[in-house]
Amino acid sequence: MKILFFAKGEDNPHWLRALQHQLPDADIRLWDEKETDAAWQADYALVWKPPVEFFHGQHGLKAIINLGAGVDSILALQSRPADVPLLKLRDAGMAQWILDYVRYGLLHFGRDFDHYRQDQVAKHWHPREIGSRRDWPLGILGAGAIGAVVAETLASEGYPVRCWSRTPKQLDGVESFAGPGQLADFLDGCRGLISILPATRETRYLIGDDQLSRMQADGVVISCGRGEVFDEQALADRLRYGRLRGALLDVFHQEPLPATSELWGLKNLIITPHIAAPTPIVTAVEQIAGYIAQIENGEPVSLVDPALGY
Ligand code: GLV
Repeated sequence: MKILFFAKGEDNPHWLRALQHQLPDADIRLWDEKETDAAWQADYALVWKPPVEFFHGQHGLKAIINLGAGVDSILALQSRPADVPLLKLRDAGMAQWILDYVRYGLLHFGRDFDHYRQDQVAKHWHPREIGSRRDWPLGILGAGAIGAVVAETLASEGYPVRCWSRTPKQLDGVESFAGPGQLADFLDGCRGLISILPATRETRYLIGDDQLSRMQADGVVISCGRGEVFDEQALADRLRYGRLRGALLDVFHQEPLPATSELWGLKNLIITPHIAAPTPIVTAVEQIAGYIAQIENGEPVSLVDPALGY
């Protein structure tokens, strides 16, 4: 079996070693523009943000496997052969990273670390009462493989949790809202809004000023799906004028976030450079080997639906 690999910005040698270990009989090659060999036709393409030339001359692919959860970049790549089934990593260890990231944001604001940071600057000793998690209704945007873990775990830890997704979900301890018609009810009274949504036709600019105005005035936003879900200007304005307490953002419309972005200067905003959930290589490789075995055995696999965008 032949596998062609390319992962932009990743530790490619590490990936290749892990793949070869998991699939010892496979012929695995790192894509290299200069060394294209027309006679070498891959069965599987394993990719993260490949260049347009990656698919040139590859006519025998059985599947393309996206080495991350979000498929926005691979769907946007014009040269992707649209007739080849597309798969993506589902959780594969990323849910735990995202959960950690979300917890960090909830602790930061929920335990008043934002206020203590300001107190420190003012050399002000001011203990605050610890609030109850029950006073932090959380809205989780996105209830797929990752969002479901986040929602159920936070609910089990005492937060009132609701989720919003395209179709209704049944998750332990979580109130489910679905579709555009239930978005306003979902947002009403949320104190923490956590987005794990992918960027799709339906989710781009989903959350603007009107939507944010439905949250509690001291609400916080944690965004670790795709930045396009938010109207960044509306979010920035609310943060600047104190109509939101704070935000923890990992993803943005433009990445890297340009130095000219006003977001850098907002004191109640914590910015991280899209690090909430790097793909964990070992668990990802196990999932990839599982996908390949299913396809080779003619078993059904869960495919990405390009029309839905995930
Ligand atoms: C990361 O952004 C991913 O989509 O996996």
